[in-house]
Amino acid sequence: MKVKKIAIIGMGKMGDAIVQGLTQSALKSQYSLSGTTRTEASATEVRNELQIPCTTDNISAIKNADLILLSVKPHQVESILKACKDSFRTDQLLVSICAAISTEQLSEWSGHKPAIVRAMPNTPCLIKSGVTAICKGPRSSEAHIKEVENIFGEMGLVTLLEETLFDGVTGLSACGPAYIYLIIEALSEAGVKVGISRKQATLLVAQTMMGAAKMVLERGEHPASLKDEVTTPAGCTIDGLMALEEGKLRVTLIKAVLAATRRSKRMRTPS
Ligand SMILES: NC(=O)c1ccc[n+]([C@@H]2O[C@H](COP(=O)([O-])OP(=O)(O)OC[C@H]3O[C@@H](n4cnc5c(N)ncnc54)[C@H](OP(=O)(O)O)[C@@H]3O)[C@@H](O)[C@H]2O)c1
Repeated sequence: MKVKKIAIIGMGKMGDAIVQGLTQSALKSQYSLSGTTRTEASATEVRNELQIPCTTDNISAIKNADLILLSVKPHQVESILKACKDSFRTDQLLVSICAAISTEQLSEWSGHKPAIVRAMPNTPCLIKSGVTAICKGPRSSEAHIKEVENIFGEMGLVTLLEETLFDGVTGLSACGPAYIYLIIEALSEAGVKVGISRKQATLLVAQTMMGAAKMVLERGEHPASLKDEVTTPAGCTIDGLMALEEGKLRVTLIKAVLAATRRSKRMRTPS
């Protein structure tokens, strides 16, 4: 089997998570990975920590790659792609995980040559518990989508979504881990308040969060009906739920996602 070369342009937090996810996966032998960064200091760090080739030379990295995975900050995308425009070929696949940048923009800035796929993963990809939304872009085939599905499938769940929903996905599942960490932190504080050590409170909360999430995913029931199972008449849970309703938890979470979605829309660079 031919080993495919993946060049990751932007070896920051997400690039790192993807390399770690792939090097620990069953696909390991199918791909050879390399990366680029802006600064030599970051490239040295990546070479030392992840044991993959890493340079600051995007043009060589792109020329040598079958698949280019773009993982730089959204405002950096246009200048990087335009500077490398002549290095892209029509037999390549360009996968972008950058928030706010559309497949049309990616296609235009890369000279309308590579096939384009957009993906929106999240940081739990680092421990194979991520979730990634993907969509087709110009020139991408079912085989390209399957390949990207397989790659991100090694790091968690994958779902196909229309590109028009990608700002919402950014606000929901890409930013989502931060919301959940905040909730875990707050509930752990509650544990401390009722006399449990911080360490044990965090363990109780995080595992409760994971168990509840698994119930939703594995049982496939509406979360409201699972909530009802915990809520016995005149029991303790209903009092807790009443306090959450009084504190407007639901509308606060909805507003958080809407704010992040709006921010993603505003980040889009006009073409
Ligand atoms: N963080 C998340 O949870 C998350 C989730 C989903 C999607 N995303 C998307 O992933 C992308 C990357 O986010 P991140 O959090 O990984 O960012 P990050 O940690 O800031 O990493 C950005 C990387 O890009 C490199 N870079 C900058 N300019 C470059 C250039 N001209 N050539 C090559 N590399 C260059 C930086 O190198 P230096 O270190 O040398 O500056 C750094 O390694 C963003 O577009 C974001 O929207 C992020």
